[in-house]
Amino acid sequence: MVDFEIRPSPLPASPAQRAAALAAPGFGQVFTDHMVTLRWSAGSGWHDGRLEPYGPFTLDPATAVFHYGQEIFEGMKAYRQAGGSIALFRPEANAARFNRSARRMAMPEIDEETFLHALELLVTQDGAWVPEGIGNSLYLRPMMIATQRGLGFTHPSDSYLFCVIACPATAYFGAAPRALTVWLSEEYTRAAPGGTGFAKAGGNYGGAFVAGRLAAERGCDQVVWLDSAERRWVEEMGGMNMFFVYAPAGARPRLMTPALTGTLLPGITRDSVLTLAALLGFDAEEGRISTDQWREECASGALTEAFACGTAAVMASIGTVRGVDGQWRIGAGLPGPVTGRLRDELLGIQYGTRPDPFGWVHKV
Ligand code: PLP
Ligand code: COI
Repeated sequence: MVDFEIRPSPLPASPAQRAAALAAPGFGQVFTDHMVTLRWSAGSGWHDGRLEPYGPFTLDPATAVFHYGQEIFEGMKAYRQAGGSIALFRPEANAARFNRSARRMAMPEIDEETFLHALELLVTQDGAWVPEGIGNSLYLRPMMIATQRGLGFTHPSDSYLFCVIACPATAYFGAAPRALTVWLSEEYTRAAPGGTGFAKAGGNYGGAFVAGRLAAERGCDQVVWLDSAERRWVEEMGGMNMFFVYAPAGARPRLMTPALTGTLLPGITRDSVLTLAALLGFDAEEGRISTDQWREECASGALTEAFACGTAAVMASIGTVRGVDGQWRIGAGLPGPVTGRLRDELLGIQYGTRPDPFGWVHKV
């Protein structure tokens, strides 16, 4: 594991400033007093680990990341648990995904111990920034950028900067549960086989804004990405995976989520929901669903709920689906009971109000 030098901020926020920031943090606007940085160079590996005051970087305009987009990131949360302690949720899974992203982008991997230590250092130092209350958290954003200077495109960068920043966060879609309206993106696609869809690489998100803007113009909250070949198989949403729930009255609920084909992000929330579904006695499987099937199964009443899930969004019901051919409603168009049951279970484990049978909670 790499050693980190601790350089506390000489000017941390005062308790009053912090309290004001924690009162209404929103998402990704307010940052804590510190960040962690770590550098990699060919020949030396990872070095110069620091916990230091949060602040800007100075980078040459010819730095590789600005030109060829060699950047990856992660998203995870620290939760204030019942009793006041702080916990991360499955951070080993984020470390593993970070390294899968790194391999795809020809970037260096970080050993799990160093990755977790960097998170723990920041969360321990800035623990006062972890807000209380279910739905509130400290969102952690580990990232890595290519820092070699020069425009050559013959090989990947020979130096990298890893950094972790943190921001207090409230519920991504607002405090009161509501059902989202989503836009089926037929014009733009997010990822193609053999591409970078399974990696958490910045370029996947940069390429998504144009579809997000189109969706917003159509009165929708989010984009639903379809497969790039046929534009009919549902893959995922902008920053969330998707689940479809079949729970007609009296039947044992069945969940289906699109299989990991390489073009969608293997969400840690997705994986957790698949496991929790079994715990709650629901059937759950990975499969595929076309947009036509989605519409028909809503009309017949077989498909009763759909939801999106991810770290930032937690779990959000989908109420209405809109596309170039019109729109349809899922169930009553409101947050559904199966979604609610799974959400309560997940939040209960994350906030320490329910048992953690899978050892997902990582106390800091
Ligand atoms: N899909 C995309 C494109 C994402 O950016 C995210 C968020 O990280 C997810 C799915 C959900 O992943 P997770 O549950 O690990 O946050
Ligand atoms: C997350 O849920 O952590 C994400 O990274 C989604 C994001 C694009 C806000």
